[in-house]
Amino acid sequence: MSTTVRIKDLPQHVGERVTINGWLYNKRTSGKLQFPIIRDGSGYLQCVVSKKEVSEESWNDSDRAGQEASVSVTGNVVAEGRAPGGVEMHVQELKLLGESEAYPISPKEHGTDFLMNHRHLWLRSTKQHAVLRVRNEVEKAIRDFFYDRDFVLIDSPILTANAAEGTSTLFETDYFGEKAYLSQSGQLYLEPAAAAFGKVYCFGPTFRAEKSKTRRHLMEFWMVEPEVAFLEFDGLQELAEEFVEYIVGRCLDRCKEELKTLERDVTKLEKVQRPFPRISYREAIELLASKGMPANFGDDIGGDEETVIANSFDRPVIITRYPAAIKAFYMKPDPNDPEVALAMDMIAPEGYGEIIGGSQRIDDHDLLVQRIQEHGLPLEAFQWYLDVRKYGSFPHSGFGMGIERVVAWVTGVPHLRETIPYPRMLNRIYP
Ligand code: 4AD
Ligand code: MG
Repeated sequence: MSTTVRIKDLPQHVGERVTINGWLYNKRTSGKLQFPIIRDGSGYLQCVVSKKEVSEESWNDSDRAGQEASVSVTGNVVAEGRAPGGVEMHVQELKLLGESEAYPISPKEHGTDFLMNHRHLWLRSTKQHAVLRVRNEVEKAIRDFFYDRDFVLIDSPILTANAAEGTSTLFETDYFGEKAYLSQSGQLYLEPAAAAFGKVYCFGPTFRAEKSKTRRHLMEFWMVEPEVAFLEFDGLQELAEEFVEYIVGRCLDRCKEELKTLERDVTKLEKVQRPFPRISYREAIELLASKGMPANFGDDIGGDEETVIANSFDRPVIITRYPAAIKAFYMKPDPNDPEVALAMDMIAPEGYGEIIGGSQRIDDHDLLVQRIQEHGLPLEAFQWYLDVRKYGSFPHSGFGMGIERVVAWVTGVPHLRETIPYPRMLNRIYP
């Protein structure tokens, strides 16, 4: 008899006989000794199989097992300082459970297209595994952050009747003869909920038919969006700073092994401490001009410009007060400078671009009607949204953070495609 344990818990079982179920990561053979390395999703275990100490069946199974074959190994756990995890197993029994012949992903370099076609297998690779564990930590940190601060989770719908973030990136579908769209943002549905609960957030998949092929865009990405009643623009920026500092801190604290595997320079992440630098859009335009990237008031700040601005600081930078004309219809104009909106973007360091976009919302009914019309949006579809301004209107603010951009930045991977289990990209929906 032996207990079945996970590899990460093995240091607590030194001197015991245990069983591990997993997959063959790698194997070295030297005459009458075999050294398989087993992984089980929680860690890697170096094993020693000695021909004279195991049955012929076990020896043959070990011999036959190919890369990524599933196996069950039973043996004694021995402390071994040089082994990953500080222990190894002296195997008494090895069972080949599922064969794996000619596993397509070998340790040699593969092209991106090949790896993306094998994404379902690529997930097993050390680096991909580490990135998705960091993603798991980011998601848990997000939920803890809001739960601990008494926010209520409001699940917003995926099928929607109206556009939230512009009509050019909508995925359209048929809804019993009516047009429906995949949600670009849960924000519009959160605002009424803020009147019900005060502090709310949603966290789910969002969809944008982005026709551009960049390393920062996915068609399907996960966005977390808080919305807070009676929170104004300065408080919104503070919330965003506290949130990002918390998430990065949690990853530094709980993903040390993963960040090491990814060879991430954590000193850069350790600098992510409040307060973050804040500059207005007008100042950003001046900064760009001083770096030889002339831009005019009213121009969009694109990816390249963001990188130039971010490189002037060692932590995320908040850009505020964008021209109202280039921002979403619901953003409140600055009462002191109505040409600009009380909008903010947070730009991550090291070229990872915009991680957060948010604003104070228009709380005046008639102004909101006017903005909806100016944007050529169908007023009928927004009656329910206008009700928030009709029945007890209140100042409120919120933001959205795309978690893949944050995971890319924290892990240091260059492209968003590695930060989500099954990326949806321009012209790719397989697997
Ligand atoms: O700036 P965006 O478009 O803001 C909104 O959707 C607001 N409704 C949010 C709110 O105020 N509640 O998107 C928010 C964030 C961006 O900063 C970026 O991190 C991410 O969502 N994002 C994308 N991530 C991956 N792929 C894309 N195509 C993305 N588009 C936006
Ligand atoms: Mg934005």
